[in-house]
Amino acid sequence: MDATAKVAQEAGRRFEKVIQILDGHNRDRTRLVPILQAVQEEYRYLPEEVMTLVATSLGISPAKVYGVATFYSHFALQPKGKYVIRVCDGTACHVKGSQDLVDALQGKLGLGGSRKTTADMMFTLETVSCLGACGLAPAMVVNEDVHGQVGPDQACEILEGIRQQEGM
Ligand code: FES
Repeated sequence: MDATAKVAQEAGRRFEKVIQILDGHNRDRTRLVPILQAVQEEYRYLPEEVMTLVATSLGISPAKVYGVATFYSHFALQPKGKYVIRVCDGTACHVKGSQDLVDALQGKLGLGGSRKTTADMMFTLETVSCLGACGLAPAMVVNEDVHGQVGPDQACEILEGIRQQEGM
């Protein structure tokens, strides 16, 4: 197999899952949001070339797909880590010291400023405005797991627990 065929085969494999998702939704352009959700579950973000493929397959413009992806805040256009840590910085959590959690986690992960994801792509740290669990303030979520009344030390312990589990 020559190099071009190899590249084409690899690209095909890479997009195989997207094609399955599109077919699963009958390539119905009114299903754009659930299609993008499924794609994001697969890649953990929406790669640009995948959005273009979705647009072409649904017969809509890439600008429209991009517009939808940027409209909904739960879509990510940048790659995220395997573990996405969201610290709530809504009013209730802020009052109970959520900034201390952010500072502690940033220190442990070497993140800050515009750097939200570790170089090894294991962790992304974000703040969110309210997780809807104000009774648990300060709250943080690691992927789907909600942790309530978390102090900085406990946040670091949760992080260490994940690192151990990953053999880091
Ligand atoms: S303010 Fe943090 S969960 Fe609502």
